[in-house]
This record gives sequence, structure tokens and C-alpha cells, in this order.
Amino acid sequence: MPSSTKIRSLRGLPLFVEGFVVRGYGRGSKQLGIPTANFSEQVIDDLPHSLDTGIYYGWANVDAGEVFKMVMSVGWNPFYKNTKKSMETHILHVFDEDFYGSWLKVAITGYIRPEQTYNSLEELIAAIHNDIKVAGEELEQPEMLKYKSDPFFNAAPDKTAPSIDSINNHKL
Ligand SMILES: Cc1cc2nc3c(=O)[nH]c(=O)nc-3n(C[C@H](O)[C@H](O)[C@H](O)COP(=O)(O)O)c2cc1C
Repeated sequence: MPSSTKIRSLRGLPLFVEGFVVRGYGRGSKQLGIPTANFSEQVIDDLPHSLDTGIYYGWANVDAGEVFKMVMSVGWNPFYKNTKKSMETHILHVFDEDFYGSWLKVAITGYIRPEQTYNSLEELIAAIHNDIKVAGEELEQPEMLKYKSDPFFNAAPDKTAPSIDSINNHKL
């Protein structure tokens, strides 16, 4: 049985991604009550193939601010049958304002589950609340907590291009 560290490295985790926050379909806050920050298509096109679609957790900061826990969905949102792949981050913190146009950094450190479709909006919301709970607990593990203070979050952003870095070339 491979260790969880081995499984994560097979999935290419941790994966460090940064880029501007763009507008999504706008349903996250309104329909779900769960605001999400979307990365641009350019960032999504550059994702490594090792990153399967699905629900992940990790750490995030906005405009070099405080680092918070996050949950992320990568894929096609089968409940909504999206035609474009998206990468949406829900940060486990209440922000006063939207942050479209801000610079978002995420360290994707663990995988939760595949994307699914649901019979109702309520079921989708319940599943996401469960993901938030799982992420909150998993990120308390020392091997996950260590990424909260990763130098990636302090480094000046390179805003000339979106940047994706896997464990293999990330300078720790
Ligand atoms: C933690 C998390 C889990 C999600 N799981 C699913 C899922 O299983 N199926 C799905 O269709 N969408 C899933 N979503 C995506 C939501 O449907 C999406 O955030 C919503 O459509 C809002 O997107 P929008 O702001 O671009 O409109 C998930 C989102 C998050 C943050």
C-alpha cells in the first residue's frame, strides 16, 4: 500500500499555481452561497496532465495577504454541464469584497474526490460543505500545515505570465 505522500506525488502534488482572478459564471456566491475565485483559461491550459479533474484542498492567499485554507474544484462542473473547464478556489475565510483582478496563489496539497453530478442544488451544496470540513481537518496535519508557510506565498508574483510549479521544480 503506497503512503499518502507517494499517492500525492503520483498526482503531481503539491502543485503551486498563481494567476489573476477572473469572472466565472457567477453562480458560486448567488446560488450556492459559496463564493469561488476562478483562474483564467490560460492557467487552466497550462495545468499538468497529472492533475486529474476533481476536488482538491490546500492553501491560498490573495495579493500577498494572509494564507488561508482552501478547497478547489478542477473540471467541468457536471451538475451545470459546463462546456469550459474551470479551476475554482473557495477560500475558508470571509472576505468583505470580491477580488476579481487580484493575484491569487494556491498550493494544492491533497485530493478529496472526483467531480459528480447531483439530483438537486441542495445535494451539491451539502457535498461542498462536506469538502470544506474534510479540507479543514486534513490541513491540520503537520505534513499539510508545513505548506502554509511555504516561501511561494511570500515571493513576488511574476505577473507577466501565469505560473504553475510542481514539487519537481518548485524551489523550496
Ligand atoms: C469544493 C468544491 C466542490 C465542488 N464540487 C462540484 C461537484 O461535485 N460537481 C459540480 O458540478 N460542481 C462542483 N463544484 C463547482 C460548483 O458547481 C461551482 O463552484 C459553481 O458552479 C459556481 O461556479 P461559478 O461561480 O463559475 O458560477 C464544486 C466547487 C467547489 C468549490
